[in-house]
Amino acid sequence: MRAYQVVEFGPPSALRVRDVADPVPGEGQLLVEVAAAGINYPDVLVVSGRYQILPERPFIPGKEIAGVIRAVGPGVAGFAPGDRVLGQLENGAFAEQALVRADDAFKMPSELGFADATAMGLVYQTAYFALRDRASLRRGETVLVGGAAGGVGVAGIQLAKAFGAKVLAAVRRPEQAEFVRACGADVVIDVGGKNLRDDVRAQVFAATDGAGADVVLDPVGADFFGAALRALAWCGRLVVIGFVGGEIPSVKANYLLVKNITVSGLQWSDYRERTPQRMRDAQAEIFDLWRSGALRPPSTKTFTFDRLPEALELIGRGQIQGKAAILLDRRKNS
Ligand SMILES: NC(=O)c1ccc[n+]([C@@H]2O[C@H](COP(=O)([O-])OP(=O)(O)OC[C@H]3O[C@@H](n4cnc5c(N)ncnc54)[C@H](OP(=O)(O)O)[C@@H]3O)[C@@H](O)[C@H]2O)c1
Repeated sequence: MRAYQVVEFGPPSALRVRDVADPVPGEGQLLVEVAAAGINYPDVLVVSGRYQILPERPFIPGKEIAGVIRAVGPGVAGFAPGDRVLGQLENGAFAEQALVRADDAFKMPSELGFADATAMGLVYQTAYFALRDRASLRRGETVLVGGAAGGVGVAGIQLAKAFGAKVLAAVRRPEQAEFVRACGADVVIDVGGKNLRDDVRAQVFAATDGAGADVVLDPVGADFFGAALRALAWCGRLVVIGFVGGEIPSVKANYLLVKNITVSGLQWSDYRERTPQRMRDAQAEIFDLWRSGALRPPSTKTFTFDRLPEALELIGRGQIQGKAAILLDRRKNS
């Protein structure tokens, strides 16, 4: 089969397409013919060698696929060849076929296309556990979503709305404002200025009658983190999700004390390893919300297989709003 491989770490253009042996499913695994592979910011980090979990090279990167099961390994129950599934992997998605642990595969709603299914996996799971598990979001609360036009951000907007929250979406470019409103944001917070420390607090307080945000989802870090902390309400909860802004911020403990604030971290893939059933329940709920119409992700931006390096470059430069995926075969994408 054809597959992208990381041979040397570097920019996306360093990826190599190679013919490699077709994988054979082992104990508890599914062999999936990939119809679409989701592209996420962490893939850029993996390809450049800056991600926290890296296998021996050469390896096939990519963390998320949707496709059709071709074979099941020994010990697999509940799946059969022909099933359409969304699958999460540590690596191996950017290929014509992929092995997925049955624990990490989810049957897709029959009416959902493969590319759109990849948009509802990793980033929705991340936002789901951030809101539900780390922040204990309650109906009627206000959520400030950082990096709101990105993958995690859009998922955060949509899920927070579906869970009954008011959503403030932080973006730094004017063209992103319309996009996040279309995704469901109630209020747009402009984080494109120089004085974030005061600007964010002023805008959030204006949008919440002076109360502040109950919950912040922060995939950005850098200056946004400190500014968002100041915009929290009493007993507010900020969830650290990532540092796409480039800088890992620090927090002064006295600030937490003064406002009864909680800052927690989220490493979504830990849920996959430690509590697979909770992850399955989360994905089932995400698909149910989609079926009910409570979630309407923007359509996924798709690229042909040969354009993966270009797509990764665009994601690395923050030039894709929402989610992106490569299509292995357009005919299968329905
Ligand atoms: N903890 C976990 O388990 C977990 C899971 C998934 C992802 N993540 C992490 O979450 C982060 C976001 O992932 P993603 O898929 O949402 O990425 P993405 O699709 O590239 O979106 C990032 C968003 O952040 C914005 N942004 C970048 N730098 C900014 C800054 N300095 N100030 C304000 N906004 C800024 C971007 O806006 P522009 O378009 O203006 O650049 C873009 O809208 C990454 O660091 C990723 O590794 C963590």
